[in-house]
Amino acid sequence: MSNPELIIEAAGVTRTYRVGTAELNVLRGVDYQVQRGRWACLLGASGSGKTTLLNILGALEKPTAGTIRVGGVDLSALSRRSAAHFRNRSLGFVFQAYHLLPELSMLENVMLPGLLAGNSRSAVRGKAEELLARVGLSGRLKHRPSELSGGEQQRASIARALINDPELLLADEPTGNLDSATGNGILELFRELRADHPQRSIVMITHNRDIAALADQVDELADGVLRRL
Ligand SMILES: Nc1ncnc2c1ncn2[C@@H]1O[C@H](COP(=O)(O)OP(=O)(O)OP(=O)(O)O)[C@@H](O)[C@H]1O
Ligand SMILES: [Mg+2]
Repeated sequence: MSNPELIIEAAGVTRTYRVGTAELNVLRGVDYQVQRGRWACLLGASGSGKTTLLNILGALEKPTAGTIRVGGVDLSALSRRSAAHFRNRSLGFVFQAYHLLPELSMLENVMLPGLLAGNSRSAVRGKAEELLARVGLSGRLKHRPSELSGGEQQRASIARALINDPELLLADEPTGNLDSATGNGILELFRELRADHPQRSIVMITHNRDIAALADQVDELADGVLRRL
């Protein structure tokens, strides 16, 4: 039975990669629970499987074994098509390298997931303008990603992640490419956005223990399993 207070319930998650004849057991039985409204951080050495786990939680990748519910939805039961729908409607992704589409303006980048969700262009445009203002980019609507600083691109990618009001934000080292002052600004933005929507949950990968100190919950991935710190 699914617990409505949990945004994430994962049990016994394993992920094995086969490379040639070798087997790489990256996740060896991960149990993970995050309550709704929590900011959870994942720590772990490079190569420990953090991105692999985040991709599995985000229905981008299937585990080798184990069960995962996100917002009560059993991810293993989703077809590719319904997984794509679920990602677009319920999740927001923020990546270290922003992943904005270079040929689109900031406004178009932020609007895109809203249009893919089938909402009207005028409604999505209004929401995107609001979100870009919220992240301090009102003056950059027509800029392309290459015309913005790294911190500005990350702000835009956060606005994009929020366009469909996701219940869960998944962030993979969102400050990893930024200097510390700019990175602190991004973290402050996450804090403010969370205060706007206390029911929204965040899972953030970081290498930075100062960032982890801001979180409600910190788990470390090592040897294929998670340990609560
Ligand atoms: N598609 C794949 N095929 C084979 N091996 C893979 C694949 N994806 C990841 N791996 C391996 O799984 C391990 C975990 O990778 P992952 O990207 O999850 O690590 P990470 O903890 O996010 O590291 P980093 O902090 O450097 O981003 C690595 O050893 C990696 O080489
Ligand atoms: Mg990674």
